Amino acid sequence: MRKHWIAVIALTIVGAALLALLFLKVPLVPAQAAKQAAQIDTLLTVQLALGGAIFALVMVFLVYSVIAFRRRPGDTDDGPPTEGNAALETVWTIIPLALVLSLATYGGIVLRDMLRPPPGQELVVKVNAMQFAWLFEYPQYGFTSPQLRMPVDQPVLLRLASRDVIHSFWVPEFRVKMDAVPGMEKHLRITPTVIGNYQVQCAELCGLLHWAMRAPVSVVDGAAFQQWIAEQRK
Ligand code: CUA
Repeated sequence: MRKHWIAVIALTIVGAALLALLFLKVPLVPAQAAKQAAQIDTLLTVQLALGGAIFALVMVFLVYSVIAFRRRPGDTDDGPPTEGNAALETVWTIIPLALVLSLATYGGIVLRDMLRPPPGQELVVKVNAMQFAWLFEYPQYGFTSPQLRMPVDQPVLLRLASRDVIHSFWVPEFRVKMDAVPGMEKHLRITPTVIGNYQVQCAELCGLLHWAMRAPVSVVDGAAFQQWIAEQRK
């Protein structure tokens, strides 16, 4: 039995290391472009590391058992009758429970940080989602635009609303995502940190043209933003 344990532990370590290498080498997410992104990426890394290790453990036990303890030619026995193992069952209940509760707590802390109002003035944008378009209203300046434009390093409060069905506001470079739900207003906070052009992509299946429900997003410097505001107000 000892040699089986050594083999299983060694294979699990190798499997987990290979998965970790894969996650590190394959770019899973685009470059970060918001203050919120770093914390989300750390959360993702922790979840992938834990998930990868557990996946390796389960797969190694499964595949190893199927191969090492398979029925040999000429063996017609039923095998020993086994019924329950209180110690083992307690362990495989307590450990996953502790892992899930820890991840839930960690996720809750990150979510709280994402939604917490920043010190200082926020730029408010009312995001109106509809089948199949986005409209961005700037109540502090009194105009509406088909594109979302924000000054760099300025905290922005997005007030999300939907005119018909549930949509979801998602700019992958900012990481954060929030549903737009008819009949209620949801809040999402972003502080863009990199000047550039992005795209909001609806992330909730909302009908035939869900795939096309996109809108341009641009992050510009403060002067360019003020100039754009002046042009829009004319
Ligand atoms: Cu709106 Cu999908």
